[in-house]
Amino acid sequence: MDKDSGVNLPIGVFDSGLGGLTVVRAIKRILPEESIIYLGDTAHLPYGTKSSDSIIKFSFANTKFLIKQGVKAIVVACNTSSATALKKLKEYFSIPIFGVIEPGSKLAVEKSKRGKIGVIGTTATIRSKAYQRELRSLNPSLDIYAKACPLFVPLIEEGWVDNEVTYKVAEIYLNELKRHGIDTLILGCTHYPLIKETIQKIMGKDVILIDSGESVAHWLKNFLKKKKILAKNKNPFYYYYLTDFPQRFKKIAERFLGEKIIIKKINIG
Ligand code: DGL
Repeated sequence: MDKDSGVNLPIGVFDSGLGGLTVVRAIKRILPEESIIYLGDTAHLPYGTKSSDSIIKFSFANTKFLIKQGVKAIVVACNTSSATALKKLKEYFSIPIFGVIEPGSKLAVEKSKRGKIGVIGTTATIRSKAYQRELRSLNPSLDIYAKACPLFVPLIEEGWVDNEVTYKVAEIYLNELKRHGIDTLILGCTHYPLIKETIQKIMGKDVILIDSGESVAHWLKNFLKKKKILAKNKNPFYYYYLTDFPQRFKKIAERFLGEKIIIKKINIG
């Protein structure tokens, strides 16, 4: 690859579905000159309730697809994939691959004043203990409280973002973390930034919320800068691929991204 064309190659981003578009939104804001190829594996959504073997198998297929598109680096936007498959992906593929666990954990440790950190995510993410391990490796004396919130994803996909049922569910999930007096809470799932206001209201304004998608976008920027491969695209492109078209997919996607997009359906086997 010649140096200049390599610089302007797109960033690959994948997720189990459309939730990873919150990460795309963050990358677009922080790296406005980068082109992006997004893959949402909607045919296998949700990952959060699946076995580790399935999550690893899907994550490998997603990575292979993005590499075939000629991306220069890959962001695993999905917390569940990052928690379960990232290590194996990094061992197998030589392309730079970034997950959301390490950046999110690091930022949480930096921001936390009293070392009492909460993590919320899908059942698979919390079960994997990936956040708990990462946080401990950064500071062994932290108090860490993790809570799976499996109802958040379907509620958000349903569009019930500013809704009393979602508020009630969030209260039930979060009250336990509140009782522990956490000062920082990691939103360890692609979807949760969409109910950030609800979560903030319940946790109180003094609790710092960490958006792991935002954190990975900053990491990516630092990496591209260090490697001198920051793109200079005046007209970056954004391609969106899905492995299935769920009902109302376009509306949900545009809600995640806050703009109109064109999505193509593909088959990756
Ligand atoms: N993308 C997943 C995550 O961030 C949430 C949706 C799913 O369960 O697949 O963990």
